[in-house]
Amino acid sequence: MSGSNKAYEKGSMGRLKHVVEAQQFDRESMADIFTVACEMEQVVQHYGSNLLNRRVMATLFYEPSTRTRLSFESAMKRLGGDVVTTESAQEFSSAAKGETLEDTIRIVAGYSDVIVLRHFESGASKRAAAVSPVPIINAGDGPGQHPTQALLDIYTIEREIGRLDGISIAMVGDLANGRTVRSLCYLLSKFEDLHIYFVSPPVVRMGDDIKGYLTRHGIRFEEADDLTEVASKVDVIYQTRIQRERFGDRIRDYEEARGLYIIDAGVLKVMREHAIIMHPLPRVDEIVARDVDSDPRAAYFRQAHNGLYVRMALLRMLLIEGTA
Ligand code: CP
Repeated sequence: MSGSNKAYEKGSMGRLKHVVEAQQFDRESMADIFTVACEMEQVVQHYGSNLLNRRVMATLFYEPSTRTRLSFESAMKRLGGDVVTTESAQEFSSAAKGETLEDTIRIVAGYSDVIVLRHFESGASKRAAAVSPVPIINAGDGPGQHPTQALLDIYTIEREIGRLDGISIAMVGDLANGRTVRSLCYLLSKFEDLHIYFVSPPVVRMGDDIKGYLTRHGIRFEEADDLTEVASKVDVIYQTRIQRERFGDRIRDYEEARGLYIIDAGVLKVMREHAIIMHPLPRVDEIVARDVDSDPRAAYFRQAHNGLYVRMALLRMLLIEGTA
């Protein structure tokens, strides 16, 4: 990104301008966001807020979403702001008439103070930020990144485990197409003495770009096949869905990958007492609900709820404080 559209301007105030990729955050900025997120829990539970009164957030979603869109919209409303939205933007916005993403962003920026964008193309948020006079928040760009998910994931690990340094984490499932695990790797690389296990079917292994990044940042990782063995060693199991929508006509690859790694009673039995199971959701069949949901180590619903507080914090910091 160039010139004034840099996502994160390093200055004495460390101004947060856009949220487009996880690499723009460091430990200090994450700590600042999490401090505000804790305050936001109090706002929701006790005080309420009108801090973003008269501010408008636009949500432009070209791919389906439950958690990200609704938690951002709830976050804006809980801070007293307003929301304009188009879900299924590919079908219901003027993209259906051939309008470019850049033109759509230029127009929507005139109607709103911040734009939350989910798009099917990797890099779409960077393109949007390059033309937008208002902050762009990447709410997932195809198989690229999902930085706000990664922030809420780190927030969840800190709350549940109490630390990030020195933890071991298993990332399980569709690691080739999973934007959440990609963004999470970028954020984890800011911490010390981590050990990451990648447990995935061969057709959806973690990409070399992420492995190279982890190597350059001194993060230990290994690929493993035996989920039960790995589950007995780690602090966090981060399960993901095999993403049917990313396989196109490669049905055979999809069938080969799905159902290979499942969290069930057998995995629970070997997990450490303090360990947690996370999942960005939605899940399909990779967690056996009747076995796992009632176990206190199942953290995925708490994880999703944390998204509200982290997204409230980001909106406040982008629209009011301008710092992170
Ligand atoms: N975790 C996540 O991005 O969920 P949604 O697709 O429902 O937004």
